Amino acid sequence: MTQAASKKDIPVNIYRPKNPYIGKCIGNTELVGEGGIGTVRHLTFDISDGDLRYVEGQSIGIIPPGTDAAGKKHKLRLYSIASTRHGDNVDDKTVSLCVRQLEYKHPETGETVYGVCSTHLCNLEVGADVTITGPVGKEMLLPEDENANIIMMATGTGIAPFRAYLWRMFKEQHENYKFKGFAWLIFGIPKTPNILYKEELEKLQEEFPDNFRLTYAISREQKNKDGGKMYLQHRVAEHSEELWNLIQQENTHTYICGLKGMEGGIDEALTGPASKSGVEWSTYQRQLKKAHRWHVETY
Ligand code: FAD
Ligand code: A2P
Repeated sequence: MTQAASKKDIPVNIYRPKNPYIGKCIGNTELVGEGGIGTVRHLTFDISDGDLRYVEGQSIGIIPPGTDAAGKKHKLRLYSIASTRHGDNVDDKTVSLCVRQLEYKHPETGETVYGVCSTHLCNLEVGADVTITGPVGKEMLLPEDENANIIMMATGTGIAPFRAYLWRMFKEQHENYKFKGFAWLIFGIPKTPNILYKEELEKLQEEFPDNFRLTYAISREQKNKDGGKMYLQHRVAEHSEELWNLIQQENTHTYICGLKGMEGGIDEALTGPASKSGVEWSTYQRQLKKAHRWHVETY
């Protein structure tokens, strides 16, 4: 089985909470269109001073300013990096994130509560400082193989690492990495205006129709076959034979990012076609994980 990128050269914890990197916000734009649900921002930070480096699939930590209810400094929160190692301006000087503002009703008081760090980030002004740690994470690395099959399953901001992959695979066109394999993104979002990076994703699909397939599961607009909400795992079920055939190829890597709740449904959807081939899915999945071909980052 082919392995993901060599893990030993991956940068980790260059900056730690006691000695963080202070970056500057140079971009903060809304990704949710009119009529969509909530706030999701694409944030870009200048990291041109110092030594912060990263590769696609890693995360950084953000420490929000201020203290918690116990008077202690806030702890860091992790965010998947949404840019390639070269950054959105391809000049190796920035890192980008895709952040949803956490908003929920307090279960007892019914008051609207906003998440500390996600609110700090979503409201960050251009020019403001941001406290960064990391990078961390070796679970979601892309294989070096230019001919690999890359299956990506994302809900919401789970798109972040896949934006980084797709930009590297199709947009940047490096001399030493030209993707020639097959990439399939299955993307779960509540409404059409919530399709993060929609125009760019669809442009890539138009430009690379043989190498990039894009499938949406729009939960509050589309129905699954039983009449319920169309979740990502229902799309996986619709295409389960095809996915199972792909997954069995030795050069296929599957990546799952976003809500933990989708994992059970994905397993359920793949159990049927696997058993038709006389294979027990959970056993097979264990082998895939061991071979670093089944990558999960859910939160
Ligand atoms: P906090 O102020 O810390 O509030 C969170 C707390 O609120 C929860 O612990 C819980 O106690 C409570 N809470 C939350 N929802 C409810 C509810 N419905 N009912 C009652 N109580 C509730 N987020 C992104 O937006 N983009 C990313 O790319 C991203 N990547 C991540 C990658 C990793 C590896 C991990 C682990 C997480 C990632 N996250 C990402 C999530 C992120 O780290 C934060 O958890 C998120 O932004 C919320 O932090 P906060 O400080 O705003 O919320
Ligand atoms: P819904 O909110 O309609 O229940 P976002 O982060 O923008 O809210 O997108 C997350 C998407 O994942 C939404 O479409 C949401 O649907 C969907 N979702 C919620 N719970 C699950 C689950 N258990 N499995 C798969 N998708 C889910």
